This record gives sequence, structure tokens and C-alpha cells, in this order.
Amino acid sequence: METKTTLSLAPFRGITNRAFRNAFSRHIGGCDLLYAPFISGTGTKKVHPDKLRDLIPFNHRATVIPQILSNSAEEIILLGNTLSDHGYRTLNWNLGCPFSRIAHKKKGSGMLPYPELLDRMLDKICGQVHIGISVKTRLGHQHPDEISKIWPVLNRYPLEEIILHPRTGKQLYRGQADPAAFAALRKAFRHPLTYNGDIANISVFHKLRELLPGQSSWMPGRGILIDPFLAHAIRNALPDEKNRRSRLADFHRELQEHAASIPGESKQLGWMKAVWHYLAGSFENSAGVSERIKQSRNRQAFQAAVEYTFQQPFSGEAEKESYFKSLTR
Ligand SMILES: Cc1cc2nc3c(=O)[nH]c(=O)nc-3n(C[C@H](O)[C@H](O)[C@H](O)COP(=O)(O)O)c2cc1C
Repeated sequence: METKTTLSLAPFRGITNRAFRNAFSRHIGGCDLLYAPFISGTGTKKVHPDKLRDLIPFNHRATVIPQILSNSAEEIILLGNTLSDHGYRTLNWNLGCPFSRIAHKKKGSGMLPYPELLDRMLDKICGQVHIGISVKTRLGHQHPDEISKIWPVLNRYPLEEIILHPRTGKQLYRGQADPAAFAALRKAFRHPLTYNGDIANISVFHKLRELLPGQSSWMPGRGILIDPFLAHAIRNALPDEKNRRSRLADFHRELQEHAASIPGESKQLGWMKAVWHYLAGSFENSAGVSERIKQSRNRQAFQAAVEYTFQQPFSGEAEKESYFKSLTR
């Protein structure tokens, strides 16, 4: 019997905020779970309401999984229990963020060279938290074999899920993910394992599915930001082009309504340009479209660039893949 495919939208700090997630679930859909970007510095005494603004009030429309970036068990316990009181059932712990200013504090992928520290933290967290904990991680920070000391630790705890992005932190988001390394690790983990990394378009997804037979849980990231309908394509339920165009326009309109509420033109444009950095890949001549939008210096110029873009044909699969690759160089 065919297993059910679970699709989760990857978190993107600076892009997939509440407004994006709401607009996505209203107009695009196709994903079972939407991961919120990490929050950090939430503290160990009381969580400041500002830190929760992206997550509270709880949204019943989409299943959102909040994420924390932290190296403090107390902080994770407090945030987890606070979110549980507001209706969330899972908190994802970010053990994958690769940036050196974070990693050198033993946060994100910077925790991976320290399996004993991870063990002590999980022991405390799992003893005191009332929310399910899942983990999003990489093969290692410096070396891909760091994971061989990490999975035995993770296996000791009742975690809900492990999301594995088969790159090292050192690689950042460049080069290629290593799905063969993921394949080799599938039997090691006792928890449900989700694949994340370089699901650039539908043909790449099909290749990955061949490489990982029986894999049911997938987390596409930039592939969905490039083509928001990728999850529908994966489910073999792609709407026709007219329908996609009108839903994409509605999605974009809602993003712009949110942008209008951000104080300051440059911040407004900054957020919309971050979205378009990827979304440009949906249209023919993606690189040109992306450049035109990036170069717009004010709202009027941006609006004109967007209107021009929406008149372009949708890009084909080969162009989407090469646009994805251009972002990973
Ligand atoms: C701009 C940007 C922001 C990101 N923010 C987060 C984040 O907040 N939390 C997280 O776990 N991963 C974050 N990631 C990583 C993505 O969720 C994802 O793991 C990565 O892009 C690999 O998947 P993909 O190849 O399908 O895009 C971010 C990546 C980028 C490029």
C-alpha cells in the first residue's frame, strides 16, 4: 500500500513569517505543516510577548510548528511550555543553523561537535517539557561524520521527529546536499525521519524518491519559495495554469497588504524583495526578472517590475532547476 506523503514547508527567517504562512495556506496550500522561522533569546524567567508575536494568537487554519534556536535547556523548557499553553503541540529545536556567529556559541549546527552537551540538555528538556520536541539538524558542523555520535544520543529520547538536511554547517546552503548520506542513515534513527535539502523541482523530487524508497516525509524549502505550487506537483494535483496564476496573484496581493503595514519603505521593499529573490524562479527569464525587482528603488518601481513579471510566461522545469542551482553557488 502506498504510504501517505507528508510535506512540510521549511522555515526561512526573514520570509516565512506569520503573514507569509497565512497567505500561503489561504491561497496556495498543499503542505501539511508549515515551520515557523526560529526564535531566539526568549529567556529563562518569562517569555517576552514580542518574541511570541509571530506565533500568538494560535492559528487554527494552518498547522504551524514553531522553532527555537538555543543552547539553554531552561529556555527551551520555558518556551515549549508557554507555547503548549497557547495550543501548540510541537516545538522544533534548530540544530542546523550554520552561521559562524551562531555556531561558535554552540547553537544551531555548532552544537553537533558536542554530543555530551546535547545529551545533558535533552535529558533536562525531556524531563520537564509538556510539548513534543522535534529536531532539525545537519550531518555535522565541520565534518559529515559528526552525525555518527549524534544519532545515538537523539535515539535515547522520546523525540517526535528528526528533520535531516544532509549538508554540513560549513557548507552553508552551497554546493549539493548529500541524499546518499541521508539514505545510509535512515536505519540508524529510531524516530520518524524527514528529508530536507535541494528539492529544487518536481523532477528532482522524483529522483530523490527513487533514491529513498519508502520515504514518506519531506521538507521542501527553496523549491517551494521558487514555485509555490511544488507541493501540489508532488501530490500529482497541479492546478491548471489559469488557476495557478490567479492564486499566485492573490497570494502576492496578501503579502503586499502585509508589507504595507511594515513601517518604512525600505523595510517593506526589503521583505518583498526577499520573497522575490526566490519567486522570480517561477517566471521565464528568472535571472532577468529577479534583477529587475532587486534594482527597484521605491514602491512605484517595484510595482512596475512586479506587473511586468506577472505578464511573463511561467518557467519550465529545467529553468526552475537552473535558477535553484544559481542560488546555491
Ligand atoms: C534565508 C534563509 C533562512 C533560513 N531560515 C531558517 C530557519 O529559521 N530555521 C531553519 O531551521 N532553517 C532555516 N533555513 C534553512 C531552510 O529551512 C532549509 O533547511 C534549507 O534551505 C535547505 O532546504 P532546501 O534546499 O529545500 O531549501 C534558512 C535558509 C535560508 C536560505
